[in-house]
Amino acid sequence: MHSAGGVATAGHANKDAKITIAALVCTLVPLEVGVVALLALAIAFRAGVRIWPFGPRPGIEAIASSAGALAFQPTKVSPMSRRRQIYEGKAKILYEGPEPGTLIQYFKDDATAFNAQKKGTINGKGVINNRISEHVFTRLAHIGIPTHFIRRLNMREQLIRQVEIIPLEVIVRNVAAGSLSKRLGFEEGEPLPHTLLEYSYKDDALGDPFVSEEEIACFGWASNEEMQDISAMAIRINDFMCGMFAAVDIRLIDFKVEFGRIWDGDYSRVILADEISPDGCRLWDMTTGEKLDKDRFRRDLGGEEEAYQEVARRLGLLQEDASPGQVFDLSAHRTKLRSSPKPKK
Ligand SMILES: Nc1ncnc2c1ncn2[C@@H]1O[C@H](COP(=O)(O)OP(=O)(O)OP(=O)(O)O)[C@@H](O)[C@H]1O
Ligand SMILES: [Mg+2]
Repeated sequence: MHSAGGVATAGHANKDAKITIAALVCTLVPLEVGVVALLALAIAFRAGVRIWPFGPRPGIEAIASSAGALAFQPTKVSPMSRRRQIYEGKAKILYEGPEPGTLIQYFKDDATAFNAQKKGTINGKGVINNRISEHVFTRLAHIGIPTHFIRRLNMREQLIRQVEIIPLEVIVRNVAAGSLSKRLGFEEGEPLPHTLLEYSYKDDALGDPFVSEEEIACFGWASNEEMQDISAMAIRINDFMCGMFAAVDIRLIDFKVEFGRIWDGDYSRVILADEISPDGCRLWDMTTGEKLDKDRFRRDLGGEEEAYQEVARRLGLLQEDASPGQVFDLSAHRTKLRSSPKPKK
């Protein structure tokens, strides 16, 4: 007597034999249907159709949680390798976006300084910069600054509007530091009489040299009207960011932004592009003066991963369950530095 408890019924010679899943599928699905389905899947895959239906492919990025900490595991898997890459820069990769006029901006962990003479990696930087930039651009949009940001797609990627980049780095300074201090001999940390705007021409081969507004107009990099829009936006961005960071005990010393044109027929307008993150800002702890930005990497101070995390944490962008011990402990870091000093650049 055979129990009918299985799916195996008449037609199978040995009813006591183990019923494998393959046999089950064979029983339920005619052979031709299976072959056709497999063929269709193979063709779709070759044509680059996304088979995974829930947004980005899984496994590109993983935040592994060792001891519950925000431990970022960079993977070398080429992101969305079927997408067309438009450009690979020092910190980001641009891919063709899903709609005309859009791009996908992928944030890498690569760090460079001194016009790429110094190269390295800051673990998890891309993830944090993606998140911080999303945060800042979203808030700037709320106060009426037009930006290229559309939405964040995943841990390292955001969808943006494609712009024609204006080849200028717009530098906004509140306090003397970096190249300004070097060039004019001001002590780092000295507040400036008023906010300063500087421009440098985006050209790696020339080392992004400083340029005057006259030169910008003379060589047609931006029109006078565009420069008025750019300087007005830069000042508003600065006012907003000074307040935003002051609220979390961070002093905004200076930062760099980029702008681009979007066209509507013969008309264009200027919007904020690229990113705003600790890569392009000088951020000092309001009380201790501790650097929480890429200067930690530039000057071999150490603790750059923790510093970037600390900025994100203070802005409320890290997981709620990250306990205080898992983020930048400034005093512990200072003690560590004293016991093993690194050469200063
Ligand atoms: N919305 C946008 N549309 C087109 N290009 C953009 C947009 N936003 C930023 N970019 C450009 O994408 C690139 C981003 O890559 P990344 O920041 O790594 O470049 P980079 O190595 O710093 O090079 P660069 O000196 O050109 O800035 C930059 O060249 C930036 O000007
Ligand atoms: Mg850049």
